[in-house]
Amino acid sequence: MNLEKSLSNHDPVQANSIICTKLLEVTYKNNLPALKSTTLNIAQGSFVVLLGPSGAGKSTLLRALNGLVKPTGGSVTAAGLGNIAKPSTLKQHRRQTGMIFQQHHLIGRLSVLSNVLLGRLGHHAGWRMFCPWTQAEKELALAAIERVGLLDRALERADQLSGGQQQRVGMARALIQQPQLLLADEPIASLDPNTSLRLLQSLHDICKSDGLTAVVSLHQVDFARQFADRIIGLKQGSVVFDGSASEFTELHIKNLYQHQPGNSAITAKALPMPGSFLQSSLVEV
Ligand SMILES: Nc1ncnc2c1ncn2[C@@H]1O[C@H](COP(=O)(O)OP(=O)(O)OP(=O)(O)O)[C@@H](O)[C@H]1O
Ligand SMILES: [Mg+2]
Repeated sequence: MNLEKSLSNHDPVQANSIICTKLLEVTYKNNLPALKSTTLNIAQGSFVVLLGPSGAGKSTLLRALNGLVKPTGGSVTAAGLGNIAKPSTLKQHRRQTGMIFQQHHLIGRLSVLSNVLLGRLGHHAGWRMFCPWTQAEKELALAAIERVGLLDRALERADQLSGGQQQRVGMARALIQQPQLLLADEPIASLDPNTSLRLLQSLHDICKSDGLTAVVSLHQVDFARQFADRIIGLKQGSVVFDGSASEFTELHIKNLYQHQPGNSAITAKALPMPGSFLQSSLVEV
């Protein structure tokens, strides 16, 4: 992304950030706030893990970062592009943002290769979708499949693969987009611990070697501590922790996962928050 361009356009994204939210709020139709006034700057090249109990707002935040959920307040701004609420900006943003879903969202009867190629659709004009894939695209897809360790399964039907292998196909499909930003919503939710570890390790390695920024939601605190450059803890729609893995102490874990009727941020204020990452969302609650 062109940061210089973003600055010259008076884009409010900080110089080292790839995407930011400002006072972002999401309230669904049931009128319960899923995400409360949240201001975050995601640094370019960082591997960010979202933690928090079920219903905390992790998926809502991830989806808002890709425009799949519309903010009811505040904004999401991509570096070099601006506020993604504008349809043309959102289209460009999605083209450079890969998404990995918990349920893979593969088409089972299609081959691994065909599923991965579908990741290129965003790069095609409408009419171009009906044309066969080019040789260059097929080579790109095979390279992505090789990176996730599935080259020997490239021509098999996706539904003949294990859950872990299917998630690798999902990874390859996101990578073929050649994204700047990767969003992954519980990518290891349905995998056993060893498979989870290997998959996260691959995801982390690929992101680091390509300089890709990742925002990944997880339920596994240990994996978050192992891989995250930064952990963002969400509870009842608010950021209650934002800091490095080493700053994420047992006390923070307890606060994050402890069931607490009422306003969780009151307790969070009593806990030491890593100063450099202090978010206005917490202060304002
Ligand atoms: N489409 C929707 N319509 C109405 N409410 C929703 C919708 N999606 C999520 N919610 C609500 O918003 C809140 C946050 O949900 P979200 O899915 O973001 O949480 P989460 O942290 O991802 O949870 P989990 O760990 O279970 O995936 C929850 O109270 C949930 O019930
Ligand atoms: Mg979720």
